[in-house]
Order: sequence, then C-alpha cells, then structure tokens
Amino acid sequence: MTVKSRILEILERKKGQVLSGEALAEELGCTRAAVWKAVKSLREEGYPIEAGSNRGYTLCPGSNLLSQEAIRLHLKNKTGSVWVCREVSSTNQEAKRAALEENAPAGSLVVANSQSAGRGRRGRYFYSPEKSGLYMSVILRPEGKISDSLVLTTSAAVAVYRAVEKICGISLEIKWVNDLYFQGKKVCGILTEAVTDFESGDIEFAVVGIGLNLYVEKETLPKELLGIVGGLYSGKEEAGKVDKNLLIGEIVNCLMEEAERNEISEIYIERNFIPGNKILICEENKIREAYAEKICSDGRLLIQEKSGEKRALSYGEVSLKMQEK
Ligand code: BTN
Repeated sequence: MTVKSRILEILERKKGQVLSGEALAEELGCTRAAVWKAVKSLREEGYPIEAGSNRGYTLCPGSNLLSQEAIRLHLKNKTGSVWVCREVSSTNQEAKRAALEENAPAGSLVVANSQSAGRGRRGRYFYSPEKSGLYMSVILRPEGKISDSLVLTTSAAVAVYRAVEKICGISLEIKWVNDLYFQGKKVCGILTEAVTDFESGDIEFAVVGIGLNLYVEKETLPKELLGIVGGLYSGKEEAGKVDKNLLIGEIVNCLMEEAERNEISEIYIERNFIPGNKILICEENKIREAYAEKICSDGRLLIQEKSGEKRALSYGEVSLKMQEK
C-alpha cells in the first residue's frame, strides 16, 4: 500500500476530524514532507482536504469521491480486491477479466464512475453517465450448476433492496426477475453473468453487475428511457449527499450474505409486484397476455396462459411488462 493510499484510508476513516501531519507521519513511518506530497496529490484528484500550517489535515465531511480505500472501510469481508475506475466500457467485463486472469476471489468488485458501453440484459445497453448512478460488479464463486443461478440473481435484488433501505431509508419494489423500482420507475438493473465448466455444468464464477440510479437528469436522458427510468432522488443535491462508498459497501455485504443463504428470501416474495397481476410476455419477438400467479421456490415465475395452461418462466427467457389496468 502506498503512503497516499494509507493517508486516504485514514482521512476517510476519520472524515471531518483534524489530523496532524506529524501524527500521520509517525503512524505511517514516513516524513512530514511525504505526507504533504500525498495530500497535495489527493487534492489534485479532487479530494476536499483542508490544510493549515498548524491545524493539520481534514477531509471535509461532504467529500464523496469513490475510492477503494473508502469502500474497503465498509466491507465486512475484506479479502477481495476492489478496483475503482473513472470510466470503463463495462464493469461486468472488467470483473470477468479479473476473475479469469487474476483469479480474483469472491467478494472482489469493480466500480466505475461511468460506463461507455454499460450492458443490460438481453443484449440491451445500460445508460451509465457520470454523477448519476452507481455502477458496480461483484465476483462470486458459488458452488452449484448454472441451473441454480436464478436464486443468485434474486439474491442480488434483495441485497440492493436491503442496502438502499438501510442507507437511504427508501423502500424499493422488485419486478421479477431482478429490476428494482421506486415510485413506478426503474431505478436499478442487475445483470448476472456466469462462466461454467463446459463438461460438468458447474459454475466457475459469477459476476453480478448492478446499476443503481441515484439521480436522473431528464434533459439528457435518452428519449426511449423517459418515463421508464428514474432515480432514488428527484434532486441532484439530495442525491449527491448519499455516501456512495458506504452504499456500495453495504450492497456487497448484503449480497455476500444473501448469496451464502442460497434460497429465495421472503423479502423477494413480499416486495415483488408482479404476482397477482395480468402481464404481457415478450418471447421470441411475440407478445402475449398471461396472468402471473406466484414466485416458485426456485425463483421461477408461475404464470397462467390464456388457454389456462400453467408454466414456470425462467430468467432470460422472456421480458415482461405489467398490463395497463
Ligand atoms: C438491465 O436492467 O438490463 C441490467 C442492467 C445492468 C447494469 C449494470 S451497471 C454495472 C454492470 N456493468 C454492466 O455493463 N452492466 C451492469
């Protein structure tokens, strides 16, 4: 760990407190000049650090830049690696690369301020501009077959639900299979991808990609997303106050717990607004009406076709819309 990284870790841990250069130098076993150099470099990166000749250094309480140092502070299990990037094409792509090439352990994550080619389900793109949302991908190494991965996907939705409720005090709704909604708009999408052993079908690793919108700028939102996509907050300022590093850390903590339990959580059933409704199913480019009955214990959605026939739908097979009442 570099001096700069260790100083950032201490500043984040003691945010708002005055830390003397001398004490920092002593704690890190370096010179005061090295501390000053590191602080200067952090300020150049945009960290609001106040410094006075005799007053020491203070990271302003409002500082909210993403960093691996700050995220790690909030992680319960710190054995994974954390990568924070200014911009990547897709955090899922980066996480898959890290899992394959660096054998990154479970709980490792890639976070980005923005994505140039964010990916959604069914080959769609995911709008991921800067200062709007959290874009993160977590590596998991679950035991089991690809056929069990639907539960993993539902775990991710529950993890986001729990973290947002705890940190932001907002109670989201879940749309089968793993979109999260607030006030009728989609605020979070999840893309779970897995790499399997071709012969055994066992999962080698999975990457859970989460895109959570804190605030959506209507003026710049692509037209096709207007009225469909929203944010947790309607004001930019309010959204800017959410401690992003804390929220990311909490999502990862909840995800690790939910994935460990490996079963459909009651929250997933309770917060899901699809069962009990007429829905439109889009399958192989054809749209049909059906009735959504319930979520099965393996995460599939039990539906009744207009013919009366019942079927359990799996993730990836279909896209689904609520029917206008
Ligand atoms: C969907 O709603 O279709 C799923 C969207 C998933 C978006 C997230 S953002 C972080 C991660 N990286 C990606 O490229 N996609 C996921």
